[in-house]
Amino acid sequence: FEVDWDASAAEKGGWPSFMAKEVSEGPEAVANTLRGRLTDHGVDLGELGVLDDEALRGIDRIVIVACGTAAYSGLVGKYAIETWSRVPVEVDLAHEFRYRDPVLDERTLVISISQSGETMDTKMAVEHAAAAGARTLSICNTQGATIPRQSEAVLYTHAGPEVAVASTKAFLAQVIGQLLFGLHLAKVRGTMTDEAIAEVVEELRELPDELRQVLAEQESVHELAHWMSDTRSVLFLGRHVGYPVAMEGALKLKEISYIHAEGFAGGELKHGPIALIEPGQVVFVVVPSPRNQALLHSKIISNIQEIRARGARVIAVAEAGDAAVLPYADVVLRVPLTLPMLEPVLQVVPLHIFALELATAKGLDVDQPRNLAKSVTVE
Ligand code: G6P
Repeated sequence: FEVDWDASAAEKGGWPSFMAKEVSEGPEAVANTLRGRLTDHGVDLGELGVLDDEALRGIDRIVIVACGTAAYSGLVGKYAIETWSRVPVEVDLAHEFRYRDPVLDERTLVISISQSGETMDTKMAVEHAAAAGARTLSICNTQGATIPRQSEAVLYTHAGPEVAVASTKAFLAQVIGQLLFGLHLAKVRGTMTDEAIAEVVEELRELPDELRQVLAEQESVHELAHWMSDTRSVLFLGRHVGYPVAMEGALKLKEISYIHAEGFAGGELKHGPIALIEPGQVVFVVVPSPRNQALLHSKIISNIQEIRARGARVIAVAEAGDAAVLPYADVVLRVPLTLPMLEPVLQVVPLHIFALELATAKGLDVDQPRNLAKSVTVE
């Protein structure tokens, strides 16, 4: 009698891959990143140390630097931090930032985002920023890693270890980290009322359960992936915070399914990408809730009409109560209602699962995609 002990299988806790396990851990990643940082009606980020209230009142712009999935989380962060705190925010790929001689001074806060905290491009961007006198904050998932150590302050995400090369739960936690920071900055700078902050805090508390609902309803994604296993190209469309979600959905598909995928901003469609639409082209559309973003919703519906008129097949990621999207989509993947800035945390999950299922349907190794490394520690 021999026990078939497979250490890797045990680490995966019964899941077929680390990626599947890590996607399932999204609710805990979010809950653990929020834990201890929400007060009754607000946010407590005393951990920022030298980046105290006075320091945060002294900045006049923010640059977010990151690579890959972390950079897409930064694009979500930009919308939230800028809207809430009224501090201008730009997002730069760390390797572009480092080599373009960016304008930096002591009134600039450079926020680096990195799951590993070891990405060389991001590390060098932070060093460059610090040398130019900018203030530095690291949003990182790895305790004691190089980037948080070389930053003035750190806001750790608590997604837990991420093993699969393609980042999933860490993306959720990175968005949460930035939302917390955005609320904190808004409070410090007096740009949001206590009531408005309390409303976001209430919605943040709901996210883990809402994520569990999203995870529980993924049978349609599974069927879709199997139906699409021969697909050669997939497009993703979004607006506002749905735009980075579209980019992230496309990146995940490239990374693990080796399918050509592109993410676009909906408004950009007519400026080029619409030329790619031919009959049968599959387009995922990230649809904001009509209940809190009626104008954006109508804009994205017109985008859908434009591509459908040219034969596209539309898969919408839409809010559960959005009946208006039904006539326009071939398939609708549902997520619960939340506030606009929080939508990406829910909307990205079906896209992560779609990439996972499609790669699995193609018989690929989802945890170790070809040519990619979990942490890129060289330039
Ligand atoms: C690599 C990984 C990506 C990750 C990126 C940034 O390219 O394959 O999944 O998003 O690095 O990594 P970081 O650890 O800095 O978040």
